[in-house]
Amino acid sequence: MNEHLASLRAEYAAAGLHESGMPADPIEMFRRWFADAGELDEPNAMILATVSAEGQPSSRIVLLKGLDARGFAFYTNQRSRKGLELAANPRCALLFPWHGLQRQVRVEGVAVPLADAEVAAYFAKRPRGAQLGAMASPQSQVVSREELDARFVAADAAYPDEVPVPDGWGGYVVEPTLVEFWQGGVNRLHDRVRYRLAGAGEGEEWALERLAP
Ligand SMILES: Cc1cc2nc3c(=O)[nH]c(=O)nc-3n(C[C@H](O)[C@H](O)[C@H](O)COP(=O)(O)O)c2cc1C
Repeated sequence: MNEHLASLRAEYAAAGLHESGMPADPIEMFRRWFADAGELDEPNAMILATVSAEGQPSSRIVLLKGLDARGFAFYTNQRSRKGLELAANPRCALLFPWHGLQRQVRVEGVAVPLADAEVAAYFAKRPRGAQLGAMASPQSQVVSREELDARFVAADAAYPDEVPVPDGWGGYVVEPTLVEFWQGGVNRLHDRVRYRLAGAGEGEEWALERLAP
């Protein structure tokens, strides 16, 4: 097994990434790459990393459900492990692992809760089954399969028409302070170009920096 893993290596030879062709705004750059990622399976699946009060990092996949000038939005249960960790420490990281394109995008920033109206508008668009699932699941808590199924049935009976947004269910927008675009290159000389928010307040602007691979 270990020998096999050690021998696994792909050669990356896709078109390079050059600072000169990159826009000033990382969200615009992300849009370009996201358009290319349309050919991949679930390109909006991103790994969200949070940190506990004890400094223990944890990661899980969530789906990117919105992108605008503020940043990267996702929805979840705010009483989940990730939700509680973000309440105590909103600093987090995102990773888009676009292997099929020999690319990854790394984001660091701060998760800001979305307004109730935005959450309600998104929740209303979800299929009924997903709405009931969100209502039924005390995300991240220890539970039995029977209890989970019973909670789903109870939610279905309690809300025969519209399902309201469950208490504690919400969303966040990760406002980036750092966004790195990584493109695989030959001989492991990959391209890494990072946008870093420099300056403070009104004077904030994105600095573009190439990092060694
Ligand atoms: C492809 C995929 C997409 C997922 N999308 C979400 C999502 O958008 N929101 C969410 O809360 N959990 C999502 N999950 C489940 C999370 O990975 C995780 O199990 C759950 O949020 C609980 O995480 P926590 O206990 O660390 O808070 C997804 C899982 C997978 C595999």
